Order: sequence, then structure tokens, then C-alpha cells
Amino acid sequence: LKRVVMLGFGTVGSGVMELIERNRAYLKSKYHNEMQLTGILVRDPEKYKGRGADGLLTTSFDEILAQQPDIVIEVMGGIEPANTYVRTLLERGVSVVTANKDLIAEYGLELMEIARTNNASVSFEAAVGGGIPVIKPFRESLKGNRIGSIAGIVNGTTNFILTKMYEENLEYDTTLKMAQEAGFAEADPTADVKGYDAARKLCILSSIAYDKMIRWKEIKVEGVDGVTKTDIQNARDIDRKIKLLAVSTRDGSEIHCSVRPALVHKHSALGHIDNEFNAVEVEGDAVGKVMFTGKGAGKFPTASAVYGDLLDVLTGKTDMVLPLNDDTNYKLSKYYARRSKWLVRLKVTSMPETIDLVLGSFPIHALKLYRLNDLDNVFFVVETEDELELYEKIVEMKSQNFVQDVKYFLMYD
Ligand SMILES: NC(=O)c1ccc[n+]([C@@H]2O[C@H](COP(=O)([O-])OP(=O)(O)OC[C@H]3O[C@@H](n4cnc5c(N)ncnc54)[C@H](OP(=O)(O)O)[C@@H]3O)[C@@H](O)[C@H]2O)c1
Repeated sequence: LKRVVMLGFGTVGSGVMELIERNRAYLKSKYHNEMQLTGILVRDPEKYKGRGADGLLTTSFDEILAQQPDIVIEVMGGIEPANTYVRTLLERGVSVVTANKDLIAEYGLELMEIARTNNASVSFEAAVGGGIPVIKPFRESLKGNRIGSIAGIVNGTTNFILTKMYEENLEYDTTLKMAQEAGFAEADPTADVKGYDAARKLCILSSIAYDKMIRWKEIKVEGVDGVTKTDIQNARDIDRKIKLLAVSTRDGSEIHCSVRPALVHKHSALGHIDNEFNAVEVEGDAVGKVMFTGKGAGKFPTASAVYGDLLDVLTGKTDMVLPLNDDTNYKLSKYYARRSKWLVRLKVTSMPETIDLVLGSFPIHALKLYRLNDLDNVFFVVETEDELELYEKIVEMKSQNFVQDVKYFLMYD
């Protein structure tokens, strides 16, 4: 019998408690194992009266410690005090299962070190992609591959916003409000709409895939708050949708990671991932491309991933997935490093000069001009060797007095 405590009893925590109950008999018959939830930490127990946990709720972390648990489920969120609590428990040899991507992206490696020296473990399947199994395939099923790239739609809030903008032809502000009313966006949506949440998840996945710890603050992150109805319309004109893409590539010893609004073909696998759904597409040298998709958030989807981790702890199937012995010499590149097409959009004051500028900047065979009749919205598609080549031209364009604004989007195939 394993003694389990839980930090937090909100959306995910209540789902986890229910799954533990639902699977109790099965766990016993199939695995000859039992879990006993002995305590749940919250701030306001009154809020949770009558939800089946009355005898378990406490506001005292010392009380949780005194129960001498074997496993802790951390589903309270945020960095502090979650970090201190989890550390304290790990130092006592308690294994941790968490859904907290903020904590893992920031302190995952340190926590794993502490776990290793104390014969414990840290598992976090729910932290990336909610209910979609991605960490486990990365650390087990795909181990025979050298992973070359990852591309994901890993934030449900922004995917909901972009889907509504596309389907209903709405501006960003309107759809953000809709997402908040539908419960898909938090009151403070900053981490989602600025791309930070997606960046944390991408860095967790990329660190596992490339065996190199990548910090989200070191990568290029652009959110969806700058995407307009016109950008969506331009994309639609060339059969594309804009998605907040978390993308990373490894070529030789160079790694690129970024989060950015990018154009995917509307009939591609990623182009079909709409609303609150998530997907992670990964390319391995042996397997080719595989994609994992499903619900990236929500009470039971997330609890499903937490339960899977609990079972791994019970059956001793945990291992250290973050690169603890990081002796690799990878270079992290700011620019997308592969050959690609880009949609470039300009706001200008003179059309003839703009046409000359564009034709003078890129070889004609790499160019496709689309809209040249609206000074506020000139757009074209260009193919370059990498992002740096494009970026240098963009800087030059921006310096012209008839160019008021330039933005560009990766076209991901
Ligand atoms: N919701 C999802 O769909 C989802 C998906 C993937 C991952 N996650 C992650 O799962 C974690 C939990 O998310 P959630 O949606 O379940 O959050 P939530 O509904 O807001 O619940 C948080 C719980 O933690 C408790 N808590 C927070 N701060 C505390 C503190 N300082 N001391 C004691 N208790 C505290 C809260 O208690 P009080 O109510 O008493 O304050 C509440 O019971 C987060 O890390 C989140 O990023 C969530």
C-alpha cells in the first residue's frame, strides 16, 4: 500500500482523486497494488466541502509531511510554494508526480538531481499536452531514433482563439473574450497569448528529445496577440491557417527552438488541429514523422496523464528523462535553420518603389507576389535557405522611408 498526498484540489486534483477511486479495484487485481490518498493541501477547505474529500483537506504543509507519504501529486500550479514543497518532499525520498510545466521548465533539472540523490523520481507527463502521451513515447518508444524535429500546437487557449478568428472572421480581442467566457482562457491570459506557456512545453520536449537542457528564456518566443484579421485572411488566400507553432529542429550540432504564429496548410495534419485540441508532430530518423493528438487540457484528460505517471511510480518504471549529464556541445540558434517559405507582409506608402525593392531583394524564382494593390497590406511569399537570410533582407526593407512596417510568418510544411 502506497501512501499518497496531493497538493491542490482544483480542476486536475479533483479529477485525479476520481480516477484513483475508479481504478482502485483494477489496480489491486491487475497490479496487486493499492494507493491510499491520505491528505490534500489547499488554501481554503471551505470551498471544497462535500466533494468527497472532507476528511483529507488541510491547509498545513507540516501536516502533509507528518503523514510520511510515498508519493506526492503536485497539482497546485505556480512556482512558489510548489517548488519548496516538492523539494522538501524529494529530500525525504518521496516521489513526485506533477502537472506543473512552469515548475518543470524552470527547476525540472534541479528537482531531478535531488530525486536522484534521494532515490526518488519526478514524473510530469501531464505538463506537456495534458492528456496526450508525449513524454513517455519520447523517453521510451522512440529511443531508437535520432530526433530531428518537433512541431506542435501545445497551447489550447491560443489555438481556440486562432480557430475562432479563422472560422468567424473576428479580431483578436473579440476572440480572446470568447475564450475567457468559454473557460478556455484564464483571467490573466499573458502566459498563453504571449507564447510563454508553449515555450515552456517546447523546451521540456526538446530537452528530452535532444539530450540538452534548453531554457525557454533563451529561445525566440512570439505570441498571438499581434495576429490580425488581415493576417488570417492573407493566410486563407493561400490555403493556409495560422497556428501558434512550437517548433524545434536539430541539424548536426545546431538546435533551433521557437514559438511563433506560423502558416500551416489547411489540409495538413497540423492544419486539422483546431479549437482546444493539441498536437505534437515529431520526426525521427528511423520512424519518420509521427503525430500525437488529443485534448491538451481539462479535468479528466489531465488526470489521465497524472494517473499514468502514478502507475509508473508504483511499478518502478520511472527514469530520469531530463539530460542530467549534459556534456553536449550544441549551439542554440535564434533563427529557423532549414530551407523554408515565408509569407512577408508590408505596409508601405509607395507601390512602385515597393515592387522594385522586393524584386531587388530576392531572386525571381524564389518569389511569388500575391497582393500588390493595397498599400496597407502588400504580401508575397519567398523561399530562403534559412531565417537569417530572410531576416537580413527584412532589416534592409525596414530601413526604406516608404516602408512603414514589415512582418513575416514561417510557412511550415
Ligand atoms: N486545468 C488543466 O486543464 C491543466 C492542464 C495541464 C496542466 N495543468 C496544470 O495543473 C496544475 C493545476 O491546475 P488546475 O487547473 O487544477 O488549477 P486550479 O483548479 O486552480 O487548482 C489549484 C489548486 O491548488 C490549490 N493551491 C494553489 N495554491 C496553493 C497554495 N499556495 N497552498 C495550498 N494550496 C494551493 C488551490 O486551493 P485553493 O482553491 O484553496 O486556493 C486549488 O485547489 C497547474 O500546474 C496547471 O498548469 C492544468
